[in-house]
Amino acid sequence: MTPMLFRQSTQPLDDSVNGVANLGHALTPGQLDISHKVILYLEEVTVSFDGFRALNNLSLSIDAGELRCIIGPNGAGKTTMMDVITGKTRPDSGMVYFGQTMDLTRMSEPHIAHAGIGRKFQKPTVFERHTVFENLELAVKTNKSVRTSLFARMDDATLDRISHMLQVIRLHKVADRPAGLLSHGQKQWLEIGMLLVQEPKLLLLDEPVAGMTDEETEHTAELFLSLAGRHSLVVVEHDMPFVTQLGGKVTVLHEGSVLAEGSMRDVQNHPRVIEVYLGR
Ligand SMILES: Nc1ncnc2c1ncn2[C@@H]1O[C@H](COP(=O)(O)OP(=O)(O)O)[C@@H](O)[C@H]1O
Ligand SMILES: [Mg+2]
Repeated sequence: MTPMLFRQSTQPLDDSVNGVANLGHALTPGQLDISHKVILYLEEVTVSFDGFRALNNLSLSIDAGELRCIIGPNGAGKTTMMDVITGKTRPDSGMVYFGQTMDLTRMSEPHIAHAGIGRKFQKPTVFERHTVFENLELAVKTNKSVRTSLFARMDDATLDRISHMLQVIRLHKVADRPAGLLSHGQKQWLEIGMLLVQEPKLLLLDEPVAGMTDEETEHTAELFLSLAGRHSLVVVEHDMPFVTQLGGKVTVLHEGSVLAEGSMRDVQNHPRVIEVYLGR
């Protein structure tokens, strides 16, 4: 919290919304507050399964607009971390905040999704019998912030959104193809597009390039880079060339906590990271 932020505030410091200076915006509870630039904040989060600590005092902070990669050996706790953020798993202890004010440990899975956290699981899950276009159309219609109801005729704005997304995910030439006929990589892009048209504020992606060709992997990196700044992304990946291409800050998880954090070059040269990856 920088003092500058407080000085700009028109609110008295002691009784501003939820205890944070709010820069004069009228915040209602449940609205995302990124006035301190942090979109996701975990502090000392512990999750135990039968006494085994899958997450062990994990602390992590993601800035709004950031593209963060999370790496770490199998069993490090990467998927469990995503389960905690999305409300699938409740931590035994610790804090998980979305922006300054939303306590994710007190929100249901649907409530968290509705608040703007999207999640892409490892396997593509698209409607195989529907065309690429129809898949995106269905996704747009589940976006609660879009006023067009399910039975309304598609308006120009919706059409524009879908056309734009088809370009972004590079599927404009196969818009009329049933999704089941796409390559593995194309299905992954379609699902990412389906999440993006719902305008998540934070998108979590678990091993998005697993099983992709080198060319598809490269296109995916370009796609993510084009989203950075406007969207906040947390990407769990094993593919090191991909993580290097993304070029952002990298967090290394090991045994449920952060082992190292920094640029790819920094973490690659970190003695403990080398030890963990090469085995002792
Ligand atoms: N539901 C569960 N019950 C028991 N153990 C679990 C469960 N989920 C994960 N684990 C254990 O927690 C550890 C972390 O798992 P996970 O988060 O899937 O790691 P990663 O995604 O980094 O490979 C592993 O040892 C795993 O076996
Ligand atoms: Mg995993």
